[in-house]
Amino acid sequence: MAILDKHAILEKNVTLLAIFAFLVVTIGGIVQIAPLFWLENTIEDVEGMRPYSPLELTGRDIYVREGCYVCHSQMIRPMRDEVERYGHYSLAAESKYDHPFQWGSKRTGPDLARVGGRYSDEWHVDHLRNPQSVVPESVMPKYGFLENRMIEPEHIEDLLGTHRLVGVPYTEEMIENAKADFNVQVDPFGDTDGLLARYPNAQVRNFDGQPGISEADALIAYLQMLGTLVDFSTFTPVANR
Ligand code: HEC
Repeated sequence: MAILDKHAILEKNVTLLAIFAFLVVTIGGIVQIAPLFWLENTIEDVEGMRPYSPLELTGRDIYVREGCYVCHSQMIRPMRDEVERYGHYSLAAESKYDHPFQWGSKRTGPDLARVGGRYSDEWHVDHLRNPQSVVPESVMPKYGFLENRMIEPEHIEDLLGTHRLVGVPYTEEMIENAKADFNVQVDPFGDTDGLLARYPNAQVRNFDGQPGISEADALIAYLQMLGTLVDFSTFTPVANR
């Protein structure tokens, strides 16, 4: 009772009330804001993670443009049913070069965080053309037009530069070679040494199986690399540094 009585003093003195209210808000604010200064600590560096290659990044833009994230998530939660279906749960580091991230909030279709390598390129071409041809009960729309839309790496340097602006470590060299890297990733007979040195484990081939570089090439290059960068046979989680 005594403490409640003392509170009456505050309620009757507006200056005191203001001072104490300010104190309470300050403490609450610090508790919420301070941890953000150490946010970096919560993201462990994971071997194998690298920025997207120019072609993959373009494919990712098409993924965003077409609204694939409306039906697909890219975040495997650390729960048994998810891990058994999709593979190792997603690590924070796996989306650290994603601007914006593609975690998604709805799964009309399955999670795609580790879809890379699960199907052949031909499967993806057929599936994009007509999902019902490979999964009869599918409600996914047709995206066949993507293979008829040819693309050029016209603004690729700007695209990489923009991602660098928001923190993706694209080097000067990567930006300078962006056009060449974009073109050579669909050319198995091209000189891919530079591309592979800059983007280890980048997959090089004609993804949509037809001449030229189409939006389907870029999108399939992106889908086929999802979840393939981290080698989970050697990965051990580290609590903190
Ligand atoms: C209207 C919701 C919807 C949209 C939009 C959508 N999908 Fe799907 N997607 C599905 C459904 C449902 C399935 C499961 C049946 C199937 O495989 O077709 C699926 C399956 C997939 C699969 C196979 C995944 C697996 O593990 O079997 C891939 C890959 C895929 N979608 C890619 C895409 C891409 C890329 C886009 C954007 C261009 C997209 N989807 C847009 C609903 C959608």
